[in-house]
Amino acid sequence: MCQVSKVLEVKNLITEFGSGSQWLRAVDGVSFSVSEGKTLGVVGESGCGKSVTCMSLIDLLPKPMGVVKGGEVLFKGVDLAKASAKEMYQYRGGDIGVIFQEPMTALNPVHKVGRQVAEVLLLHTKMSKQEARVEAIEMLKKVGIPAPEKRVDEYPHQLSGGMRQRVMIAIALACKPDLLIADEPTTALDVTVQAEILDLINDLQKEMGMAVIMITHDLGVIAETCDEVVVMYAGRVVEKGTVKTIFKNPKHAYTKALIKSILSLETPNKATLPTIPGTVSSIANFVEGCRFCQRMEVDVSELTVRPKFEEVEPGHWVETCPRCYQ
Ligand SMILES: Nc1ncnc2c1ncn2[C@@H]1O[C@H](COP(=O)(O)OP(=O)(O)OP(=O)(O)O)[C@@H](O)[C@H]1O
Ligand SMILES: [Mg+2]
Repeated sequence: MCQVSKVLEVKNLITEFGSGSQWLRAVDGVSFSVSEGKTLGVVGESGCGKSVTCMSLIDLLPKPMGVVKGGEVLFKGVDLAKASAKEMYQYRGGDIGVIFQEPMTALNPVHKVGRQVAEVLLLHTKMSKQEARVEAIEMLKKVGIPAPEKRVDEYPHQLSGGMRQRVMIAIALACKPDLLIADEPTTALDVTVQAEILDLINDLQKEMGMAVIMITHDLGVIAETCDEVVVMYAGRVVEKGTVKTIFKNPKHAYTKALIKSILSLETPNKATLPTIPGTVSSIANFVEGCRFCQRMEVDVSELTVRPKFEEVEPGHWVETCPRCYQ
């Protein structure tokens, strides 16, 4: 059987915010991996730790309060959790591309877009300025920006939101990374542009063979773009498996509730939308036991033991809390 190599393997990642002796755990023992040419979706509601997880992987946590306190982040076998700030600077934008939700804050407003694409090439390759400019135009063309020879000399504010996101993709992919981390890459865009951007990422992934981590709160995006899914709740992974397994045979009450809430979006009467009751508790109030039970108002005195995370069938992992594992 042909063995697909793992580009990234995250093992028991722990990230905390705080200072002195006061620390709160935002990411609590998260593990997953993503293979060459594959897309892993990370899904969960707002505040469940998706962005903090991805910031932890590439040393972009706000400093000094955000710290990776444990675990391994193996990128092609090298542990990024132990890499120096200088080494991480080399990885980001080089072997690892990153796209954020809001391109206007990620792009530099005072530099022309072509220069911003060229800059990553100058930093990570041996290209001359002239070669980098030619390649930048080539990348802008590749991501579907019309008249790239002209657009290369425009500033971010001269472009639409969708075009700015395309520029972000051009920057992220300029150095042909092995891994692309996309944190809500389409959330700020309107629906038709969203679909175009997701198609673009998929096409470029096929062409370049990179692994992708797609972070989203939208299970619809997962269904359309991913091979495997990690469902996060309150800083932990509660379920993971292939897209097919997660949609056809979800086992955790939280995953089931998420799926139900998207299916209902397609029903005509939105007034009857069954949303998940309650909210994700703040990291200051996390219990050690099952956190979805905490939301369902199970008495906290019963939530003192962390549920096991078990492989219930090949490749399908679930937190087997006796109440939530169904
Ligand atoms: N700089 C920070 N200091 C303290 N707590 C933080 C900081 N950044 C994030 N957190 C906390 O970490 C938790 C996870 O946040 P995170 O941004 O990863 O959520 P998310 O899943 O990406 O949500 P969203 O869908 O809204 O983007 C939240 O409880 C948040 O309040
Ligand atoms: Mg986020």
